[in-house]
Amino acid sequence: MTKLLLQSPNPQATIQIGRILGTCLPRGSFVALDGILGAGKTQLVKGIACGLDEGGWAGLRSPTFTLMLSYHGGRCVLHHVDFYRLNEAPELPGEILEAMNSERDITVVEWASIWREVWPERYIHVSIEVEDDDKRRVAIDDPFSVCPEIPKALEEFTVQPAET
Ligand SMILES: Nc1ncnc2c1ncn2[C@@H]1O[C@H](COP(=O)(O)OP(=O)(O)O)[C@@H](O)[C@H]1O
Ligand SMILES: [Mg+2]
Repeated sequence: MTKLLLQSPNPQATIQIGRILGTCLPRGSFVALDGILGAGKTQLVKGIACGLDEGGWAGLRSPTFTLMLSYHGGRCVLHHVDFYRLNEAPELPGEILEAMNSERDITVVEWASIWREVWPERYIHVSIEVEDDDKRRVAIDDPFSVCPEIPKALEEFTVQPAET
């Protein structure tokens, strides 16, 4: 169980936080992302993609019309989903549920709390709060110890030490 609070002073730092996550997340991880529009969720996913596949993130876009975008170039497949766009759908497409429950792939969902009831049993929750123009607070909650390396790996961004 890990709970920690980070500070990101600029977009590059948020990408770097994601990148570190991308290097240490185990296969099968599900990451639930929350934060208002413009908080930096997509920036963080860019970083995760970069951590999985150096250079492979350059083309990462928001999953707008495709609902889910998948990247196959890295050490494992990354699925990027945005529940905001799916909000009006009567049910979650099967391929998205499959990705979320995959034991091999990593799936990251923006606006995850819109559909809290479909999260898999084990998850990491990341919530980004806007402090002012460029500063963000990034709260990471890993209640099932999916990735025990997180507190050490993200030490340089930590403002509140991990609660374990
Ligand atoms: N510390 C920061 N972390 C992330 N993004 C930041 C930060 N400061 C400013 N920004 C800006 O905020 C915007 C975040 O956009 P995006 O990642 O698409 O947000 P979201 O996916 O949460 O709607 C980008 O334009 C980015 O440059
Ligand atoms: Mg986004």
